[in-house]
Amino acid sequence: LRPIHRLLSCPGTVAADARKEEQSSGSAETGSEDRTPKKRFSEVQKERREQAQRSVLIHFPNKISEKKFLKYLSQHGPINNHFFYESFGLYAVVEFCQKESVASLQSVTRTPSMGTEAAIPFRSRCFHLKLKNASNQTSEQSCITRSNQSPPSSKKLFELLCDAESIDDQLNTLLKEFQLTEENTKLRYFTCSLIEDIAAAYFPDCAVRPFGSSVNGFGKLGCDLDMFLDLDEIGKFSDHKTLGNFLMEFQVKNVPSERIATQKILSVIGECLDHFGPGCVGVQKILNARCPLVRFSHQASGFQCDLTTNNRIALKSSELLYIYGALDSRVRALVFSIRCWARAHSLTSSIPGAWITNFSLTMMVIFFLQKRSPPILPTLDYLKSLADAEDKCIIEGHNCTFVCDLNRIKPSGNTETLELLLKEFFEYFGNFAFNKNSINIRQGKEQNKPEPSPLHIQNPFETSLNISKNVSQSQLQKFVDLARESAWILHQEVNGHPSPSSKLWGLAALLLPSVAKNVSQTKRKKKKPASERVKNLLESIKSSSTENSTNTNGT
Ligand code: CTP
Ligand code: MG
Repeated sequence: LRPIHRLLSCPGTVAADARKEEQSSGSAETGSEDRTPKKRFSEVQKERREQAQRSVLIHFPNKISEKKFLKYLSQHGPINNHFFYESFGLYAVVEFCQKESVASLQSVTRTPSMGTEAAIPFRSRCFHLKLKNASNQTSEQSCITRSNQSPPSSKKLFELLCDAESIDDQLNTLLKEFQLTEENTKLRYFTCSLIEDIAAAYFPDCAVRPFGSSVNGFGKLGCDLDMFLDLDEIGKFSDHKTLGNFLMEFQVKNVPSERIATQKILSVIGECLDHFGPGCVGVQKILNARCPLVRFSHQASGFQCDLTTNNRIALKSSELLYIYGALDSRVRALVFSIRCWARAHSLTSSIPGAWITNFSLTMMVIFFLQKRSPPILPTLDYLKSLADAEDKCIIEGHNCTFVCDLNRIKPSGNTETLELLLKEFFEYFGNFAFNKNSINIRQGKEQNKPEPSPLHIQNPFETSLNISKNVSQSQLQKFVDLARESAWILHQEVNGHPSPSSKLWGLAALLLPSVAKNVSQTKRKKKKPASERVKNLLESIKSSSTENSTNTNGT
């Protein structure tokens, strides 16, 4: 047995990374920018994927001693990192220092005999630990610290917001409470790597990569896990120089289109998940969608997963959002609060439909921050102009080039407070000419709408697509009405007239569902929407608020 003190002293960058992450999330609290060099998206993905491949998931009974458990596992090699969490039982994610330790553990693990049922003998990296003798373990069980994988309850959130010192503090508190923790991020990469093991049975060099809010910096605890089955890695080796005058190619099966190839691959992987994947339940193959996918729940992690393939542009747009989120600590704080506000008023939903999505809301915030004076975020065209040869990226004929090294982008000189930005966000979109203008983060300028959808947000890379094509006129109107009401509430507070529900102030007052109720009730009483009244009031205060904004500038 290896000595227990070696468990945490394994070489590697993980502990240092965790410390860096703590520091950078700390910067969000103070508002001061973190000047330590920031990692490229591809570096983070590579490191985390590699960590995940060295990890295992173990389900065990509550009665266990942490020390004995780790000592037992370290028979297979030193452990770099571990954490516990609760989800229909107690689980541990254990990251070994070396990949070989996983194989060693698998080699001594047996397939259970099930009595009347039969087991599929699939040897995954998910294990079940049983006690040979329960009685001598009970005494030390209480010391296990469980990492929390869920967002705070509304009650806890309101308490925290009301205890905050300022609206800026409220936005940063909300970010801190909802953002993905180090452990939750690890669990996301780990879950992808479990699916990768299954897909690798057919495509040995494939990669399953998380994308969307799990990795772009805007994910909140409990958000879905978007996965991308990357088969392009497989072709990479074919560029190698071959000797002589010959070129070798695989014999393959041909199908009429890329889409059909995608559907066939996802269909088979979906079957494998359903039949062999431990804890993969509720598998649905949604192969006729614009972007075909397999949706399933991963029980042990509690994640709702969407697996796609041939979706490289979405990975690139996750990288772009990661850069925008990392450039300035105000970006994520504002996006989280706007997303939370939208959820509180049922503007967004977990069910697909005519509502605005979190992705669209993030684009709206980025666009708004590009329009500040001086801008808080650069345009995508500017990020493209900073790109060098190695950043060049063309996917399916779309130019997805932008600078990947964040440290080459100059920080903004804008010092506006979050409080001001929140208020101005609501005013800006409460008065935006949605009927004629499109939101375009590539140019950071409104463009004429190319088609009549109520809300038009140009896809940054597939520029002929509208990412909010699904949004109906009534949902957009609801967004506008609520934005105006919220701007009005904040304006009153700034001027020393807190909302009548006195204790709930600032952001807390905006998250109250009663704001939405007020809008719909007023609408029911009168034909003319309340928003018209609020719009006029807002316009009348606009001139004074422009003066105010210079006064409220500052960190
Ligand atoms: N995406 C896109 N165009 C859309 C919708 C989604 O390009 N119309 C891409 C984006 O890169 C997005 C990712 O697919 O980040 C995942 O989509 P989704 O899960 O809807 O959004 P998330 O950003 O992951 O946000 P959420 O927390 O709501 O899941
Ligand atoms: Mg998502």
